[in-house]
Amino acid sequence: MCGIVGYIGQRNTKKVILQGLQTLEYRGYDSSGMALISKGEIIVEKKVGRIQNLIDSVEGKDLSSEIGIGHTRWATHGVPSDTNSHPHYSMDKSVAVVHNGIIENYQSLKKDLEEKGFIFSSETDTEVISQLIQDMYDGNILNTVKKALKKIKGSYAIGVLHKDHPDELICAREHSPLVIGIGENENFIASDVSALLEYTKEVYYLEDGDIALLKKGEIEIFDKANNLVHRERKHIEWTLEQATKGGFPHFMLKEIFEQPQVIEDTFNKRVLNGRADFSDVLTFEDIKKINKIYIIACGTAYHAGLQGQFALQKIAKLDSSTDIASEFRYSDPFIDENTLVIFVSQSGETSDTLAALKEAKRKKAMTIAITNVVGSTISREADKVIYTLAGPEIAVASTKAYITQITIFYLLALYIAEIKNTISKEKYLEYISEIKNMSEKIDSILKNSNEIKNIANLLKNKKNGFYIGRGLDYKIAVEGSLKIKEVSYIHTEAFASGELKHGTIALIEKDTPVVVIATQQELIEKSISNIKEVKARGANIITVGFNNEKNLEEVSDNFIGIPKCNDLFSGFLSIIPLQLLAYYTSIAKGIDVDKPRNLAKSVTVE
Ligand code: M6R
Repeated sequence: MCGIVGYIGQRNTKKVILQGLQTLEYRGYDSSGMALISKGEIIVEKKVGRIQNLIDSVEGKDLSSEIGIGHTRWATHGVPSDTNSHPHYSMDKSVAVVHNGIIENYQSLKKDLEEKGFIFSSETDTEVISQLIQDMYDGNILNTVKKALKKIKGSYAIGVLHKDHPDELICAREHSPLVIGIGENENFIASDVSALLEYTKEVYYLEDGDIALLKKGEIEIFDKANNLVHRERKHIEWTLEQATKGGFPHFMLKEIFEQPQVIEDTFNKRVLNGRADFSDVLTFEDIKKINKIYIIACGTAYHAGLQGQFALQKIAKLDSSTDIASEFRYSDPFIDENTLVIFVSQSGETSDTLAALKEAKRKKAMTIAITNVVGSTISREADKVIYTLAGPEIAVASTKAYITQITIFYLLALYIAEIKNTISKEKYLEYISEIKNMSEKIDSILKNSNEIKNIANLLKNKKNGFYIGRGLDYKIAVEGSLKIKEVSYIHTEAFASGELKHGTIALIEKDTPVVVIATQQELIEKSISNIKEVKARGANIITVGFNNEKNLEEVSDNFIGIPKCNDLFSGFLSIIPLQLLAYYTSIAKGIDVDKPRNLAKSVTVE
């Protein structure tokens, strides 16, 4: 939530900041701003709305500078407005600050500062940081920021400029992501590496409590205890091309179409000589110890966890349950050192998931993170980490990260099953090749995406709808429903097909769209009965099922066929038409599909 960039060097700083903000716009997009030091003054430019508004407003302005910071906002304190946008000046305009996070004690700090005569111009928590720095300034900006941060409680990633220090960019982090990009006679800061790829692939990830001083040719990092520390220099493998649209009209569509490739990449990384291998995260001894597995995540990652639970139970025969991170933390779960808790997070920065991870560690559980972002907070906090190889996921709606998460879960289930001896050799080989064949099968669904466009046109004017399924299909219904809600603003609910008649069927009326997922062979007859029940009440049925399921097709108004596979794995395939349906419905409604309203890609507040 919120994106930060900063630059010190000889490039066109205004351009570097604006480009960085455009890359980070998915992190928040209700307003944006930048601050540069020019001719001994800090110049702040900011605008409510999309970054294009900021770009338009600074066009033609001479803002030559060799140091700057920028921010794209997802509002927490104060409505989106020019005034509440970052950067925030201090009262005398000597300091400017950009901030991602929440300052929990800002009200008491603000009161103290007001008593000293400070006047605040915004409703934000962030403004107290700049005012505090002005108040405490002792001629040394690094030391002043260190002292000021000691008074601040909460989460932050910040970038700070002081007008008398045009050759010093200060940044710090506590529970919010921040990475330093290492250049030659220039340096960068950013909330995530995607904003740096154009300039450098060499980075330092800051740790909680770190404060850094960046000069053109120098970086100094201090830890919480004020020791000068050396953080490991990392090389980023992601390419700039991966972080651009590459000829697709939107990131979401590009990322949906990248799914065959990212499954293959994740598979190839984890399957060695035909066997799933997670020996780097779970040893034979660990597996023997496990008495229970919890899978914890939010949103789409939680839905991947539901499939993970299914795979672990069905294949590895392990008692598993899935919980929403923000609930798990307060549910006082039974956890001990024999419990494995798996945290799933594309970004690796989601606050709710991170808080749950800390709780599980406090209770001495074994913890594993499944994440897409190397060096992210969750990847560093968990005992062990499994990286998905989805590449940068930019669209707010998660698609390709989800498919790599479920790839990992199925492979992990096979790895555990082999060690626990809960699977025959034949089944093991059959299941490995089911996963291997998924890329090709998804490709064939993607080639037929036009028929889904037509169905999207039918849906676009609907206000409500349902997604239903049984068994594994229900877990896919839940994700399909979230996808269409977040990008098309159509209110849909996912229901276990058998549960609808216990109350919710009262909402079905003429032409209510009901999207049915029906791939589980032993449940197909029951699914057909459920379809008939809602059809009898006027529902319009859109079904996703295996090709050539004639009985299913006959009872449906629209039928989307997917290639046949073993039922256990059908979630890899049935989700694809649902992602496309969400995408095309959003486009048909003229919505900015990559940046739907009220959302941000990375949710770093609880
Ligand atoms: O980065 P994470 O995977 O931890 O994010 C979790 C959710 O916020 C995320 O999956 C969200 O639900 C997506 N926007 C859904 O498309």
